[in-house]
Amino acid sequence: MDFDVEKIRQDFPLLSQKVHGHPIVYFDNGATTQKPRQVIETVRRYYEEENASIHRGVHFLSERSTETYEKAREKVRKYINAASTNEVIFTSGTTGSINALAFSFGEKHLGPGTEVIITEMEHHSNIVPWQMVCERKGAKLKVVPFNEKGELVMAEFKKLLSDKTRIVAVTQISNSLGTINPVKEIIRLAHKSEVPVLVDGAQAIPHESIDVRDLDADFYAFSGHKAYGPNGIGVLYGKEKLLYDLPPYQGGGDMVDCVSFEKTTYDQLPFKFEAGTMNYIGAAGLATALDYISGIGLDRIREYEKYLLEYATMKLMTVSGLEIYGNAAEKISTISFLMDGIHPYDAGMVLDKLGIAVRTGTHCTQPVMDHFKITGTLRASMAFYNTTGEIDRLHAGLHRVREMFG
Ligand code: ALA
Repeated sequence: MDFDVEKIRQDFPLLSQKVHGHPIVYFDNGATTQKPRQVIETVRRYYEEENASIHRGVHFLSERSTETYEKAREKVRKYINAASTNEVIFTSGTTGSINALAFSFGEKHLGPGTEVIITEMEHHSNIVPWQMVCERKGAKLKVVPFNEKGELVMAEFKKLLSDKTRIVAVTQISNSLGTINPVKEIIRLAHKSEVPVLVDGAQAIPHESIDVRDLDADFYAFSGHKAYGPNGIGVLYGKEKLLYDLPPYQGGGDMVDCVSFEKTTYDQLPFKFEAGTMNYIGAAGLATALDYISGIGLDRIREYEKYLLEYATMKLMTVSGLEIYGNAAEKISTISFLMDGIHPYDAGMVLDKLGIAVRTGTHCTQPVMDHFKITGTLRASMAFYNTTGEIDRLHAGLHRVREMFG
């Protein structure tokens, strides 16, 4: 395969370190990704040469900082193919984006007799904000189930869509099962009932090319840190006409047009939703991360990660008593699994001593665990800098776990 993973790995300083005397195997990319030198360099250079608060100064540094921030917004716009930079709101991350939308959308559109549809495989950040707003506004939360393979039951979704539905919030890719959901079809069906859709792209952004206009997504949320960018920066995309109608989520800072004690008027999009001093350095780092991904190419990333998924699935299935949770036909390179009779924390601790980082627990998807009547899983979530050699080490580590716990 034409994919020079060793060359790519050289861009990621953290991957060359040892943990407990072993070269690190980092398989916790679903939680957060490591950063290439290019992103680290952008952040370092910003602090060394450019740091100044945006939008509020006439001085040189502030103007340059503002320009960098707005260029980052344009980079994101292009990356997700939004129609305008007015549709790209910077947030603290996926959770920040969804909380902002749930609050704001709820204020405008939810009330007694209305419903919000989510799915059984959402992570908590796409459940709890909707639960909170439903409680506050007296609306109802409806949940689309998934089947034993970890695929959404589309017939149930169709049944749940009704004239009471005000919004559908669905993950593009499940963080714990790896399932790639048919979001384009979900959006098409919702739009037939004139219902807007929020796509949670937290797990999709590092793996798939995103075109919000092709999807016809009304809202789209993602984080920078899961896509090789810095922490504390994320995006809420929204169609301009929908965002225009929504009230701001937070007040203060730069989101105002005119403030008096009698009445405050708000700024235009996208600033109406950007209160306080924004994470402009994170935005610059995110822009570099998106450039980095584009430089490799999402088609090549997808092909290589598919190869990793197939290789890892094949290897893990040879471990006795190992069960994989999430066997959807369309999956990213994330594998959740359990070894019978062995608690995931015990297995995770042994793997850690071998220098292998996997995540153990519910992965912020307790309803997914409830579905399978389990308390948690081990999760190996792989990125394009992982190798088949690392999968071999995981495989050997699991044999070691089996030897230790019987
Ligand atoms: N950040 C959570 C994860 O590990 C949702 O997937």
